[in-house]
Amino acid sequence: MTELYLNGEYLAIEAGKVSVEDRGFQFGDGGYEVVRVYRGEPFRLKEHLERLRRTLAGIDLALPEPAGGVESICRRVLGGLQEATIYLQVTRGAAPRAHGWSDDLRPTIVAYARACSAPAPGSAYTLLTVPDDRWGRCHLKTTGLLANVLAKQAAKKSGADEALFVRDGRIVTEGGSSNAFLVRDGAIVTHPPTNLILDGITRRAVIELAKARGIRVEERPFTPAEALEASEFFMTSTTIEVMPVVRIDRRPISLGPVAAQLRADYARLAGRD
Ligand code: PDD
Repeated sequence: MTELYLNGEYLAIEAGKVSVEDRGFQFGDGGYEVVRVYRGEPFRLKEHLERLRRTLAGIDLALPEPAGGVESICRRVLGGLQEATIYLQVTRGAAPRAHGWSDDLRPTIVAYARACSAPAPGSAYTLLTVPDDRWGRCHLKTTGLLANVLAKQAAKKSGADEALFVRDGRIVTEGGSSNAFLVRDGAIVTHPPTNLILDGITRRAVIELAKARGIRVEERPFTPAEALEASEFFMTSTTIEVMPVVRIDRRPISLGPVAAQLRADYARLAGRD
């Protein structure tokens, strides 16, 4: 049985209750991680915990548990699940509503796992470009996701699988909940890890895999026009792994060997073949 971890206790997921004055609920004041579990083993857990630490440091919230403690929480909530995602969230805690906070608040920590499965073989995404109207700290994985939620809902309503953020009409940054890559002249191109994107754990793994294959990697901004002219395009995240793209807005994009190769390499890294 999988359990919910909530502030030091293990409970059934339905039994978890958080105050209506939790700042996560009222202000989106917190950070989170989504960790993929393959064959019962959390994938790159240390990188996720390190990113969570950076997120929380970036919003001036100290992680109340040592990283080792959070790691054992993640393992326990798995409850024997083999293929799963772990959701881990830390908010600043509950207090009478005021924008400013006092430093003695007790953060709310939540972790639980859900079974999941790998993307279907041969699956591919369609994308809808949307203006990137998010704040200037997209490198922090915070629970303030309304701009992402609205972008992904607009994509969904249009029949697309994912939103593709375009900053100031000029720069493709990333997806609504994924990183974006194009293939050009055999090289892969992706936005550099600045404050304008989340530096995905999958993104990093894919860059390593590409380099190991001798594929050139360019971390630089690219335009929507360059995206539409790419020989291939793909998205990456913990849940979609390496997802080839077959359409951006109304423009078809070809499937190709580079994304297919990296998808296969990633599946191998995840312990599948
Ligand atoms: N999202 N960019 C954004 C905005 C994201 O929300 C995510 C992940 C990524 C990819 O990061 P990673 O490879 O570490 O999963 C990029 C998770 C899956 C989510 O919010 O559900």
